[in-house]
Amino acid sequence: MSTQASAVQTPTPFKPRIFSGIQPSGGLTLGNYLGALKRFVEKQDEGIETIYCLVDMHAITVWQDPAKLRQQTREGAAAFIAAGIDPARSILFNQSQVTAHAELGWIFNCVARMGWMSRMTQFKDKAGKNSENVSLGLFAYPALMAADIMAYHATMVPVGEDQKQHLELTRDIAIKFNNDYGVNFFPVVEPLIEGAATRVMSLRDGTKKMSKSDPSDQSRINLTDDADAIAAKIRKAKTDPEPLPDSVEGLKDRPEARNLVNIYAALAGHTVDQVIRDFAGAQFGTFKPALADLAVAKLAPITAEMNRLMADPGEIDRILGEGAERADALARPILEQVYDITGMIRSRRG
Ligand code: TYM
Repeated sequence: MSTQASAVQTPTPFKPRIFSGIQPSGGLTLGNYLGALKRFVEKQDEGIETIYCLVDMHAITVWQDPAKLRQQTREGAAAFIAAGIDPARSILFNQSQVTAHAELGWIFNCVARMGWMSRMTQFKDKAGKNSENVSLGLFAYPALMAADIMAYHATMVPVGEDQKQHLELTRDIAIKFNNDYGVNFFPVVEPLIEGAATRVMSLRDGTKKMSKSDPSDQSRINLTDDADAIAAKIRKAKTDPEPLPDSVEGLKDRPEARNLVNIYAALAGHTVDQVIRDFAGAQFGTFKPALADLAVAKLAPITAEMNRLMADPGEIDRILGEGAERADALARPILEQVYDITGMIRSRRG
């Protein structure tokens, strides 16, 4: 419902700004790398203002052992840097160090509707039959995600396919906030879901997403896997008995083949068409070793750099702290305006 328009502002052109996040709820996978990290680096290198976050507050919506969470947050930060994120050019931090996220998250809890949240497929998947017993935070999760993005007036969010519905909700929350308060305060964000690997699938089942929470380690490539583990997992990946087709249409109804070709294309920086042209008629006995070599060539330097960075956790914490200060300087004035728009008195000194 629209209230009085005392805080109405003239439409502000929102400056292009990218925000994205990754949960430090386990080791990162090839899916995270191709669907997110690699593209985060490309966006940074295109010269757009980029803000990247390890979302530790999202991680605790399901139980996290505190010592492991700390370790995984540092490991996540090391992965960002090893993949090519430059903390001087991008802002890199962990979410809990910038309290604007939680504060705006609460306000968005009061904007989002129960019906909207109940339709979130990730919540339904994660809660399963256990929905009475999951945390309230898991239900509110997408409102905090909207806050992550809107606290910076970010206009673009690079993500994998599985985050699309959450970004639609972010748009709905921004639009409802603007309508309710009669303002044009929050931008309507644009999801960037691009490239050959927006949905990397399990190596054991081409119809299931590759995920850090899959009980089978054989289903995924972890960014911490060594060359032998990567090669073995690709060699054992499920496939079908047919050779690779001579056109992309020939991959239809062959989810495992499609997945390996997509992974190859994304790692090589080629189109799927190009990969199919190069490997038309090839047996998996030929294609899999080529894919394993490519994966090792691309991932081994990242893993080595992650290990090097992890040897100095103090330096990682310093980078995250510095990033958090820069993030806070952007988010705080936006949040203060939100408090003003929503009618909160802010008279505390200092
Ligand atoms: P998370 O931590 O599950 O995943 C981080 C990023 O990796 C992408 N991704 C994949 N892409 C392709 N194939 C896969 N198999 C695959 N698995 C994961 C995800 O799409 C995501 O881009 N809710 C988010 C974290 C988040 C966030 C945000 C993202 C919190 N606040 C604000 C963007 C903006 C999540 O759980 O991602």
